[in-house]
Amino acid sequence: MTQDEMKKAASWAALKYVKKGSIVGVGSGSTVNHFIEALDSIKDKIKGVVASSEASSQKLKSLEIEVFDCNDVPKLGVYVDSADEINPTYDMIKGGGAALTREKIVAAISDKFICIIDSTKVVEVLGAFPLPVEVIPMARSYVARQLTKLGGDPVYREGIFTDDNNIIIDVHNMKITNAKMLEDKINTIPGVVTVGLFARRSADIVITGTPKGTELKSKDCLLS
Ligand code: A5P
Repeated sequence: MTQDEMKKAASWAALKYVKKGSIVGVGSGSTVNHFIEALDSIKDKIKGVVASSEASSQKLKSLEIEVFDCNDVPKLGVYVDSADEINPTYDMIKGGGAALTREKIVAAISDKFICIIDSTKVVEVLGAFPLPVEVIPMARSYVARQLTKLGGDPVYREGIFTDDNNIIIDVHNMKITNAKMLEDKINTIPGVVTVGLFARRSADIVITGTPKGTELKSKDCLLS
C-alpha cells in the first residue's frame, strides 16, 4: 500500500464511529480529505459537521454536507482528525497544515478524538516533525527568542497565515519527552495562540493504515 492508500484505509475505517443523526467534528489535511469523501457516502444519515479549517469547510460544503458554526454546537460525540506525529501514549504533534488552533477547539468540545493516520506518523519520541506554534504576528520575534530558550530552533513559516490571520513558527530539533509540560510552557508565552502539541487533549482512539491493513488501538487499552 502507498502512504495515501494507508491514509484512505484509516479514514474509511473511522466511519464506524459516526453515529446516525449526529454532528461530527471534522479535522484538516490530506488524510481528513479521504475521511470527508467517506463521510459523503453516509451524508444522508448524519445531521452535519463542525469543521476545523476553511479548507475542510469548503470541501464539505461542496459535497452538500451541512457545516455548523462551532458556537452553535456545545458538544460533539466524535472528532476525526489526523496528526503529523503520534507517540505510544497518543500525544500528538499537529499543525503541519496550519489549522492547529481550530483543531484544538473542535477537539475540546468532543467526547472522543479519533486519530486517523498512516503508519509513518507513529514515533517513539515526538519532535522529528517540526513543532508548529500559532503566533500573533507582532509577537513573532519575542516568541522565537523564548522558543530558543526552551531548546528549539524556531523557523518562521514565511508567507503562511492561519484561518485566523496569525503566523506559524515551526520549532525544529526538539526531543519532546514530556509533552504535557512543554505544551503548558509554550502556551504561556505571551503572543502564542496555541502550540501544536496535543498532550492535554490527546487521541482516544487511533486508527492506523499499515501496509498490511488497518490497526485500531484505544486509550482504554493503554489504561488497563
Ligand atoms: C493540519 O493543521 C494538521 O494538524 C493535520 O492534521 C496534520 O498535519 C496531518 O496532515 P496530513 O493528513 O495531510 O498528513
